[in-house]
Amino acid sequence: MRWRVERVAQCASTNDVVRERAASGEPEGLVLVAARQTAGRGRAGRAWTSPAGGLWVSILARPRRASESWPLLSLLAANAVAEACRQEADLEARVKWPNDVLAPDGRKLAGILAESRPPDFAILGLGVNVAVDPGAFPAEARAASLADLAAKPVAVDAFLDALLDALAPRLEAFERGDDAALLAEARARSATLGRRIRTQDGRSGYAVDIDDAGHLLLRDDAGRSITLVADDVHLERE
Ligand code: BTN
Repeated sequence: MRWRVERVAQCASTNDVVRERAASGEPEGLVLVAARQTAGRGRAGRAWTSPAGGLWVSILARPRRASESWPLLSLLAANAVAEACRQEADLEARVKWPNDVLAPDGRKLAGILAESRPPDFAILGLGVNVAVDPGAFPAEARAASLADLAAKPVAVDAFLDALLDALAPRLEAFERGDDAALLAEARARSATLGRRIRTQDGRSGYAVDIDDAGHLLLRDDAGRSITLVADDVHLERE
C-alpha cells in the first residue's frame, strides 16, 4: 500500500472527511490525520474525546475481497496498533475483541471505528492516546496515554510511521487471503480469550476462541456456544 498522508489542524471527524472523499472517488491509501477533532466518534454512537496530543487518523482502503471478510480489517488494524505500541513504547498492548487496544493494566490506549460501504470502500478510524493530558479523558473512562506508560518519549508522528509500517504488510496479507497469520496474531494478542465476559444485551460466558471469520466464540454457563459478531463486550473481573 502506498500511503498518502494528509494533515489538518482540526476537523469534526476524520472518518466523516474520508467518507466524503471516498464517495467522490479518492483512491485507497489516503491517511487523514487531525491534530484534534471537534466531534470525534466512537463505536456504538459514543463520542470520542480527541484533544491535541493524540493520534486521530482515518485510513481509506478499497478491499478487493468479498465484504463478508471485511470485519477482519478491524482486528488487523488493532494488531497493527499493538505492534506499533511495541515498536514505539516497548509496551505489550493487548487487543480487547474486537478492536480496543489495552495497556497491560487494562486501561484503554486506543479504539478503532471501522466503517464501510461495501463493495466500494472501508475506512479504518483509529484513535490512539499517544500523549493526551490525563485530565482530558472522560471521568468514567479507564483510559491511559502511551507516553505516561512508556519508559521512553513517544511522539505522535513516529507512532503514525510505525503504525503505517505495521498496517501495510497486514493489509497485503489480508488481500492475499492469508487470514491464518492475522487470526493467529489476534489470538496471541487477545485480552479477551480465557476471560469471562458480558455483552451489552446481558449474555455472558467464557471467551474460548476467535473463529476464522473473526467472530468471538463464548461458552455460556449451560455449556452452549454463542457466536458474537461485533458486540461490545465487558471483561468481568478475574
Ligand atoms: C472506539 O473505541 O469507540 C472507537 C474510537 C475511534 C476514534 C477514531 S479517532 C479517528 C476516527 N475519527 C472518528 O471520529 N473516530 C475515529
